[in-house]
Amino acid sequence: MNTPDLFGTEPSGAASSSATATPPQDSPAALVQQLREQLHQHAHRYYVLDEPSIPDAEYDRLFQHLQALEAAHPELLTVDSPTQRVGGKPLSSFAPVQHGVPMLSIRTETDTQASGAESFDTRIRKELALNEQAPPVEYVAELKFDGLAISLRYEHGVLVQAATRGDGETGEDVTQNIRTIGQIPLRLQAAPQRAPAPDVIEVRGEVYMRRDDFEALNERQRERMAGGARLEKTFVNPRNAAAGAVRQLDPAIAAERPLSFFAYGVGLCVPDQALSLPTQWDLLMRLKAWGFPVCEHGRCVQGAQGLVGFHAQMGALRDSLPFDIDGVVYKVNRLDWQQQLGFVTREPRWAVAHKYPAQEQITSVLGIEVQVGRTGKLTPVAKLAPVFVGGVTVTNATLHNEDEATRKDVRVGDTVIVRRAGDVIPEVVSVVLERRPEGTQPFRMPHQCPICDSVAVREDGEADYRCTGGLYCSGQRKQSLLHFAQRRALDIEDLGEKLIDQLVEGGIVNTLPDLYRLGLTSLAQLDRMADKSAQNVLSSLETSKHTTLPRFLFGLGIRHVGEATAKDLARHFGGLDAIMDASIEQLLQVRDVGPVVAQSLRTFFDQPHNREVVEQLRACGVTWPEHEPSARAQLPLAGRTYVLTGTLPTLSREQAQAMLEAAGAKVAGSVSKKTHGVIAGAEAGSKLEKAQALGIPVLDEDGLRALVSAQAVDGADNETS
Ligand code: IVH
Repeated sequence: MNTPDLFGTEPSGAASSSATATPPQDSPAALVQQLREQLHQHAHRYYVLDEPSIPDAEYDRLFQHLQALEAAHPELLTVDSPTQRVGGKPLSSFAPVQHGVPMLSIRTETDTQASGAESFDTRIRKELALNEQAPPVEYVAELKFDGLAISLRYEHGVLVQAATRGDGETGEDVTQNIRTIGQIPLRLQAAPQRAPAPDVIEVRGEVYMRRDDFEALNERQRERMAGGARLEKTFVNPRNAAAGAVRQLDPAIAAERPLSFFAYGVGLCVPDQALSLPTQWDLLMRLKAWGFPVCEHGRCVQGAQGLVGFHAQMGALRDSLPFDIDGVVYKVNRLDWQQQLGFVTREPRWAVAHKYPAQEQITSVLGIEVQVGRTGKLTPVAKLAPVFVGGVTVTNATLHNEDEATRKDVRVGDTVIVRRAGDVIPEVVSVVLERRPEGTQPFRMPHQCPICDSVAVREDGEADYRCTGGLYCSGQRKQSLLHFAQRRALDIEDLGEKLIDQLVEGGIVNTLPDLYRLGLTSLAQLDRMADKSAQNVLSSLETSKHTTLPRFLFGLGIRHVGEATAKDLARHFGGLDAIMDASIEQLLQVRDVGPVVAQSLRTFFDQPHNREVVEQLRACGVTWPEHEPSARAQLPLAGRTYVLTGTLPTLSREQAQAMLEAAGAKVAGSVSKKTHGVIAGAEAGSKLEKAQALGIPVLDEDGLRALVSAQAVDGADNETS
């Protein structure tokens, strides 16, 4: 396979690892080196810069090519190969690791007001013996990420060990799990000016979980629990989920947990003059040049005023950040001053953490109400004594579903811990049992819709009760409209909850297209609606008509189709008609679309009334740009399903699966009439028998290679039995 150097750059000689001598140009060794270089660069663009320059399928193809070469030439395998991120056996315990330089903690300024920053600056000036005439001290102000500290040891530019903080002197060896984090470079990229990687360097930073990843993980855990998986549990907050993943003994489980990383400092450096940088800011820039994610919100600021400004600015930004922070950190910028200031008992005198109000608080439960969602889902919600948490006053917190409510056993009268982080809905984390009053009753989920009285049912394998009232239920209608109008969907600014209540209860709006048929007169006669505000509603409806395909698709409120799935679908198919007409097999080709989502889409678009809603919305003038379908839909094996069984001579199951997926195929766990082929190795069992009984083509490893190789690209139908 031809692998052009897409970056037009020479391999980063300075930090590259195992390259002792340059192998001949087209030898397998040279090809392996070239592929690794490209994959490292692409992974950095994808995970760290968030701006991939090639389609996923192309990355998969390069990856698969490297895997095949390494399988054929095991002597070329090295620990920093991109293929080595996942793998390894479950451990029985973690080995202790002595840090080269202790991992310190930071003194916390408990005063959450601006004065917290001022007192730090005053102390620093005093300790540096700066008089009033001296200019303001320069600081680096960073976010205080709410995750766990990790030390990454690189030897000659290659990641060799990752350790938790532990007691600061000795941590635990969590290398296997840390390797699975795509944002952490397996080897240092060449720094600018070709500064060589030090012989040894410990890079320090924070492993954390993004809020959206945390929500998705918990949602998946809830589904697994509803499906009967007893050992699964939900996580209390992103920090606990991240810590649990890092300290997971089975690296395969850790790999499933979506973790992220920010670098913010260094520990040991050998030789120590290898990093002769003057400031903390230069250090951050060096870490960035080596390929680490460095948080974009860090700033160089002047004096107390600069710190106070940063604290206020980040406080305002806190809710919209994609991850949790519990404060900000101020560090004296000049490294020679840091050294001069030194430490007091494990805490540097040159840094301080300045907190924000907590995102978890204690309050009491006044009642438990059941709310009806747009798909009829009944959600128990705790009504709380108002409490200030995560920067707002909270009075409601979700209990998710019957099982969660039962598991947490939240009762009216209980004292509970509530969590609110970002714009995620507030949640009851746990009950403070010691404070439970006498005579409380366990909560029971009603079997009737609290709004329309229709029967509510909970299907097998489902976590939720659903109202069976459908469009008859005004609760469901209101929620569908609210979902469609929300900021992340059609963004109809002036259409709020109170107005929707009136429109639905007055029988003025029943369906989504009815919104675009509203006139000034029908609006202006509603409660608390003057001409001016009615005009605003109409103009925000008008503006909303120019939207995007992902927003529209998400706004339709199809079960299991969240924002991310809507984006994936739009990218894959390019236009709405192609999505509406896609078969289950075609839908399954979309990244992260599984059978449940595919079925839900099919069911939705098979209902004539749903298609009618779409047509009417288009007729009302709702439009969006469409584009060509993405490359994946055109891959040679798109729409085809294969099953792997037995042991192949050289490829692992993961490698074989990756090869098939890179060619666009889906890999299934069991053989059915819909299977297009079975790849069988030694000791293949019942799957092979079933394939033979059903007359499904069977391939060996060579057959698999032929199937996914370039020759097969033109004709995916040429497999033989
Ligand atoms: S610097 C010199 N910078 O806070 C101090 N730490 O008590 C070394 N943390 O567990 C740490 N964000 O994991 C530093 N921008 C940041 C940080 C940060 C979060 C955590 C760190 C450690 C704790 C310090």
